[in-house]
Amino acid sequence: MKFRPTLAAIGFGVMAACTTYSAQADADPKKGEVLAYTCHGCHGVPEYKNAYPNYSVPNLGGQHAKYIENALAAYAAGDRPHQTMHAQAVTLSEQDRADIAAFLQGEAIQPSNEVVGTPPAATQTCVACHGADGAKTVMDDYPILAGQYADYIEQALRDYKSGKRKNPIMAGIITGIDEKDFPALAQFFANQKGLCSTKDVRENGKCQ
Ligand code: HEC
Ligand code: HEC
Repeated sequence: MKFRPTLAAIGFGVMAACTTYSAQADADPKKGEVLAYTCHGCHGVPEYKNAYPNYSVPNLGGQHAKYIENALAAYAAGDRPHQTMHAQAVTLSEQDRADIAAFLQGEAIQPSNEVVGTPPAATQTCVACHGADGAKTVMDDYPILAGQYADYIEQALRDYKSGKRKNPIMAGIITGIDEKDFPALAQFFANQKGLCSTKDVRENGKCQ
């Protein structure tokens, strides 16, 4: 069934459309690299921690540019409350954010489609959007979770649960997930191949 020519043609059409969309003609990663200099102080230091509450500063290397742009806009607007990131984001124009995002994405991550370890049962709810390997997301404004720090993922899940972090999609999902499943979910996605620090992107232009 999946080899029927019509379906193959549709698949190809979707791939072609995605390629065009992610080309981001007007974002300049070179300018982004200069603007991202101040970001390395936290995002370029492996295991660097946010103080209160204590969790790892997230990996941004290889993340979808579209998601990074959305996150910066949310910090700037205060929709996603975080004092430090608000202070960082308000100084950036929309163009700056697009340039930085293009730099941080680097050479886009190639989803491995290879799952490391046994997925906990609760991941069944997640893979439809974030991908079985946490990297092959269905939309490019859905974040890659593969290779993200486990303690950061857990914090994000708690923030969606408490309503501190507002997103209509994740808010709906998280009501159906028991908090005791958070550590295993977070560890599973952290173990997959994917994101890296801004330092790796600066040095290699990509993760791995
Ligand atoms: C003083 C440390 C610090 C600096 C400097 C900093 N960040 Fe952050 N950043 C953080 C922390 C901590 C978080 C996690 C906040 C949260 O829980 O929402 C974060 C989160 C983010 C996120 C959200 C990631 C995700 O997966 O949702 C983005 C995007 C981001 N930072 C971009 C930047 C950019 C771009 C710069 C430079 C212009 C920068 N940050 C500078 C500490 C920092
Ligand atoms: C219907 C699609 C969908 C499903 C299902 C889904 N997510 Fe998400 N997820 C999203 C979107 C969209 C975002 C971005 C939300 C935002 O900007 O805050 C997101 C964000 C996240 C983040 C924040 C990442 C970061 O870098 O800050 C985590 C962690 C996460 N999801 C984990 C999960 C887990 C674990 C599951 C399964 C229990 C799951 N998601 C199921 C769509 C989905």
